[in-house]
Amino acid sequence: MTGLLDGRLAVVTAGTAGIGRAVAARFVAEGADVVVTAPRQDELDVVVAELGPRVTGVLNDASDPDDLERLAATVRALGRPVDVLVANAGRDVAATTVVDTTVDQFHRVSDLNFRGTFFTVQRLVPLMRDGGSIVLTASIAAHNGGPGHAVYNATKAAVRSLARTLTAELRDRRIRANAVSPGPTRTATFDAFTEGSDDVEQAVVAQIPVGRVGRPEEVAAAVLFLASDESSFVAGAELVVDGGMSQV
Ligand SMILES: NC(=O)c1ccc[n+]([C@@H]2O[C@H](COP(=O)([O-])OP(=O)(O)OC[C@H]3O[C@@H](n4cnc5c(N)ncnc54)[C@H](OP(=O)(O)O)[C@@H]3O)[C@@H](O)[C@H]2O)c1
Repeated sequence: MTGLLDGRLAVVTAGTAGIGRAVAARFVAEGADVVVTAPRQDELDVVVAELGPRVTGVLNDASDPDDLERLAATVRALGRPVDVLVANAGRDVAATTVVDTTVDQFHRVSDLNFRGTFFTVQRLVPLMRDGGSIVLTASIAAHNGGPGHAVYNATKAAVRSLARTLTAELRDRRIRANAVSPGPTRTATFDAFTEGSDDVEQAVVAQIPVGRVGRPEEVAAAVLFLASDESSFVAGAELVVDGGMSQV
């Protein structure tokens, strides 16, 4: 059976859980070799054990530009070009208004979500094959003013913007860059957002025309589309995967 990513090398940041884990699993199923990054070795060991020998786990903190340089050195040592880069690492912290947000909270979110995404791309683009594909994980939060999440919202708008600039800057290398913007998706991050409250979850679900939160595998399907040749004429775009939440 042929897969959409047969023989390709992909790098997926934050690939041990949630959306990144689902992306890595789908990429392997579609024939790719996948470098998965995350900040905890035990979680990396689990993913490598579960997804098999085509996965390489690399310990990495995506919020640290120096650590991203070490990631680049590790990927360079593989001796083959990167076909697909999925810059997926991102987080939010407990909701705070703009007035109450501390400098530390600001940095915890922005250093991973935007600085991390920016330098992940910067360090790895030189290792990419001409004609490759970059997928950045943004969020529907890029487009709304969800109170209490100003830094997260703004960093995701910045990530979405980055897909546009990369599209312009990488045109001579025919590298396509796109953003995927999930809506509420059942991961640890979502559980932290609802704080395990059924009432909060139901309030979120009430805003989603499809009538439920998304599954990481559903976001992974969209990432696969953008990563593969199936999206060969899609560049600088944003693929929203939110059950219609932001459209109504
Ligand atoms: N879930 C949603 O509803 C939703 C909606 C819109 C957008 N997103 C975006 O989707 C992306 C993935 O979110 P998720 O919900 O799938 O997250 P998740 O299930 O909470 O998984 C988080 C992943 O990030 C890794 N990670 C944590 N800190 C890291 C760091 N400094 N460097 C590299 N990796 C790190 C974690 O590794 P460890 O397990 O080792 O800590 C884990 O693999 C994020 O960019 C998020 O903003 C999520």
